[in-house]
Amino acid sequence: MRLPDPALSIHPDRASVMHALASHVVHRARTSISERGRFSWALAGGSTPKELYELLASPEFAGQVEWSRVEVFWGDERCVPPNSSDSNYKMAHEALLSRVPVPPSSIHRMAGELTPAIAAERYNAELRRAFPDAQYPETPPSLDLILLGMGDDGHTASLFPGSPALQETRDWTRAVQKGEQWRLTLTFPILNAGREIAFLVTGAAKRTMLENVLNAKGDGCPWPSAGVRPTQGRVTWFVDREAAPQSSTGC
Ligand code: 6PG
Repeated sequence: MRLPDPALSIHPDRASVMHALASHVVHRARTSISERGRFSWALAGGSTPKELYELLASPEFAGQVEWSRVEVFWGDERCVPPNSSDSNYKMAHEALLSRVPVPPSSIHRMAGELTPAIAAERYNAELRRAFPDAQYPETPPSLDLILLGMGDDGHTASLFPGSPALQETRDWTRAVQKGEQWRLTLTFPILNAGREIAFLVTGAAKRTMLENVLNAKGDGCPWPSAGVRPTQGRVTWFVDREAAPQSSTGC
């Protein structure tokens, strides 16, 4: 079955990408809340999304979202305490969640402070509780929006090239080791069940990899970002001109 091509939303610079993506998040929130009574959103980590989260918390956008209906999850987390400067939770809390009225019970944090395998199992259980209609593990929940970044090695969330987690077909969350650091990540089964995926990629350093990923055909590609191919959902890449593809390569 041919999957729909991902949409490419190219903007002149980093600030305009953030503004376009913030507007898109607002639109998805409104649509999801209108259709299902809530907006389930998995946040991305790293550094790029901080600017997006701060913009969503700003007076220009904060009043446009019914935050009491938003359920926040994470696509991945580093196995560090929530007050660590490496914590994706800490970054999102400071940039957004401490500034908008998402109910604490709707903030589904990955417990990076726990033993990785236990934290992964706890998050699988958290997802089962948050999505009681989903059948674990064969029918993952469809989050309304999954925000992802992409590394210049093609990784996304904490799905890194060559990782055994790329082959996971059951668990929705896995603990993975990257060098000395352990991380927690959502896996392809739940990512590819998403109603909508938005990648946020900026900067010239990612252009070559973005070209490779966008032109990837089939399953043999070594780049995990190319494995995000939702069966029903839509993928949109929000990129600046520096990161935008100039030619086609791919595997
Ligand atoms: C993380 C992220 C990771 C990130 C990419 C891109 O925990 O580091 O989840 O997957 O999205 O590394 O990061 P930047 O967008 O900050 O370059």
